[in-house]
Amino acid sequence: MINYEKSIVGVTIGWLLIGCTTSSPDTMQKEEKLYRPHFHFTPQTQWLNDPNGMFYFEGTYHLYFQYHPFSNVWGPMHWGHATSKDLLHWKEHPIALFPDALGTIFSGSIVVDHQNTSGFGKEGQIPIVAIYTNHDQKGEDACSNTFQTQSIAYSLDQGFHWVKYDQNPVIPNPGITDFRDPKVSWDLSSQQWIMALAVNSEVFFYHSSDLKQWSYLSRFGKGIGNHEGVWECPELMELPVAGTKEKKWVLLVSINPGGPNGGSATQYFIGDWNGKEFIPDSEFVNSMGQKHDFWLDFGTDNYASVSFNNLPHPRGKKVVIGWQSNWEYARKVPTQKWKNGMTLPREIDLLPAGTTYRMRSLPTPFWKTHLVDKKITESLAVDSKTILASIEDLALDRMQISGEMTLSKYKSYVFQMDNSQGDKLFFGYDGKKQEFFIDRSQLQIPNFNAAFSAGKQTAARNAITSTIPFQIIIDKTSLELFFDGGQTVLTALYFPSAPLEHLRLFAAQNSGEIKYFKLSEFIH
Ligand code: FRU
Repeated sequence: MINYEKSIVGVTIGWLLIGCTTSSPDTMQKEEKLYRPHFHFTPQTQWLNDPNGMFYFEGTYHLYFQYHPFSNVWGPMHWGHATSKDLLHWKEHPIALFPDALGTIFSGSIVVDHQNTSGFGKEGQIPIVAIYTNHDQKGEDACSNTFQTQSIAYSLDQGFHWVKYDQNPVIPNPGITDFRDPKVSWDLSSQQWIMALAVNSEVFFYHSSDLKQWSYLSRFGKGIGNHEGVWECPELMELPVAGTKEKKWVLLVSINPGGPNGGSATQYFIGDWNGKEFIPDSEFVNSMGQKHDFWLDFGTDNYASVSFNNLPHPRGKKVVIGWQSNWEYARKVPTQKWKNGMTLPREIDLLPAGTTYRMRSLPTPFWKTHLVDKKITESLAVDSKTILASIEDLALDRMQISGEMTLSKYKSYVFQMDNSQGDKLFFGYDGKKQEFFIDRSQLQIPNFNAAFSAGKQTAARNAITSTIPFQIIIDKTSLELFFDGGQTVLTALYFPSAPLEHLRLFAAQNSGEIKYFKLSEFIH
């Protein structure tokens, strides 16, 4: 068994030889300028996937992440670490968790153990406890079926240094190959810790009073939802229903593949939690085989979204971050120095919708405080070719477009961003099909992956109001579309060969009108 902490030098050299590509300083500089996001987290160097163990403590947001420090493709996982005061500017710190004798460190969560239930706190200190999956690569290579186990570690300095529990694993593997991604939270009603764990394509629930001893409670998922891929990174949470005093329980489950536009995505289920079992509402019972259309995000690039622990919100909303990529092409995205980053943090709650509810996701309030309005119009008439802005007027790679589309039969709105290199990016609303879309098939970057450049990604509209409020957030390589007040969201990466220079808007079929139209620029 390799002790990675001890043999770090040997491993580093090994991975540098195997994993790193050699890029010239010029290429690196171009890449930084063209692709390093303004307000999305990316690691300084190397590979990143899922967000892990996010928590808030005394004014600081902590983000950990699946990280391979020695290569820009996935490999032996560590937990990287970054902190922020506003969820938009991040500072990266030394690696928090290293692989050990039980394996590498897969996804998991962190809780602030205020009552010191774990007993790890000394002399009144509040322990911060991480619960994660140890992945024993040697076991997997030897075709064992017990290579994923759950372990814990604690920090007494607010998440910067960690001590692994000497009796790990706390949940041994019962003989199941996919057995991972523990997300733990304190259940107020049953006064215990609850863990949601991804097990093949189901979720198992466990409970504990001290984070060390865990007992199995129940399982969820058979016959329900989408099962085209393996279930990963689940989270059970209670969310408020907007405009009511009601609260409902929601189970987030990431799935890969099986997403609505291919590859990785996060589905959700709504129901109740009785301290033991998750009981889905009738809409979800026996829904396997039917098209599951409850997705946290319909775009291709938001995976493994989970929430911050210990983040109080006056109305009980949660804040989530997802991995802004997709397992279909994450290893191939055209950056070399680093690969992949996170979505914009989003506040989530529920909206009543007919006989059920829909999740609403919107940027956190910090976002607005960094916007400067550049163009505001009460009413914008749109015809077949309206130029909205050029790069001279507005930083097109760090901006927000917002307003309300007015509707009549078949009215479509198509935003186009382009440059003189021939890159074209489209997004908007197709009135005939009543769906939102993103089309990144006409970017000039050599086709690095067929799935990335394939046709349109779409999401059917659920809301029935006569206007469509929208908020479109653009960073250097990402597009995040929030329609109908966050009821339908699409997130997608894009990689132009040069900066995009124009923003245009077409109203197809008829002319159109956008109310309260606003173009705003993000300032640091
Ligand atoms: C999800 C995932 C998790 C796993 C981790 C490994 O993207 O596959 O299930 O813990 O990534 O890096």
